[in-house]
Amino acid sequence: METILAKLDGSNDEAYINKAGEILRNGGLVAFPTETVYGLGANALDETAVEGIFKAKGRPQDNPLIVHITEFGELSKYACDIDGKTKLLLEHYWPGPLTVVLKRKPVIPAAVSAGLDTVAIRCPSNPYARAVIKAAGVPIAAPSANSSGRPSPTKASHVYEDLNGKIDMILDGGSCDIGVESTVVSLAFGSPVLLRPGAVTLEQLKGILGEVETDKAIFEKTDPKRKVSAPGMKYRHYAPKAKVIAVLGDDDKSVAYIKDKLCASDISTGVLCYNGEEKNYTAADKIIPYGDENNALSLAQNLFDALRTFDETDVKLIYARCPSADGVGLAVFNRIIKAAGFETVSL
Ligand code: TXA
Ligand code: MG
Repeated sequence: METILAKLDGSNDEAYINKAGEILRNGGLVAFPTETVYGLGANALDETAVEGIFKAKGRPQDNPLIVHITEFGELSKYACDIDGKTKLLLEHYWPGPLTVVLKRKPVIPAAVSAGLDTVAIRCPSNPYARAVIKAAGVPIAAPSANSSGRPSPTKASHVYEDLNGKIDMILDGGSCDIGVESTVVSLAFGSPVLLRPGAVTLEQLKGILGEVETDKAIFEKTDPKRKVSAPGMKYRHYAPKAKVIAVLGDDDKSVAYIKDKLCASDISTGVLCYNGEEKNYTAADKIIPYGDENNALSLAQNLFDALRTFDETDVKLIYARCPSADGVGLAVFNRIIKAAGFETVSL
């Protein structure tokens, strides 16, 4: 299949977006930018189109998809039991990087939700994402537009690397603002549960919902055979080819630990570090500063691009400086410890 590459640079945007809408309506697959990461879209009401997503990504069949809409008012077409707190939450954070899991209405095919009786729904804020969904005129099921197991794409070039020749179109809208996937919160079974941390923070969710539990899979390895609340959380996502060791805790101790390990290392080793501390790691084979230590959003923005850049090198081991698990830092922490297969060093 030939994949159409369309750059949204103002010269031909409307035509490209209309074309994308037509492809989606007709059962095709289109990758498009959102404020979090690039999504791989298909008509959520068309079971065959949705099956195409699983094929193109090589995605396990038991991992459900998020349905994307453009208005809060559409939510009740696809989900039921929307209570007052859910409404309040969505008034605050939609459109934006927040996905809610609710009871699924039968109009959403079971294949979208991997057979669960719930559905995950998100209303993105990125203007290109919104324009594409509107042009399609149907709700859009969209996982991140990477091959299953690779870091999520935050640039059109990442989508191209993974999916060129496997999908109909890639809309290139530049780099994603947030860089990690949306916060996923389940509101389907009484008490709210955070299933995946993102840019809408746990603290913000608690501010509106009161008590919010955190799913174990955010912090710990789960048995792949066990039934988990967010099936996607059990896979070793975000995984670069090299082994990753997440280094947590005290700054000075972390820098000293990595320095020591680099000196002792006889394999090609990389460091994922904070801006300005590169000088400590002259013994590394590849150093990637990924943002400002005091600005977790800047770390989120560059994390997946950095992991992909390591894949272009021959480093076999990566020491990753990992922020503390609060605010947006929890999302970065979670992606790094997952990339590390939960192998962490706490100092
Ligand atoms: O930011 C995002 O959410 C991006 C953009 C494209 O919108 N999408 C995304 O989709 O990250 P994906 O498929 O890569 O991740 C969806 C996550 C998975 O962990 C999945 O298991 C969980 O949401 N999920 C989806 N439907 C669910 C459901 N009904 N119940 C529980 N978890 C669900
Ligand atoms: Mg994904």
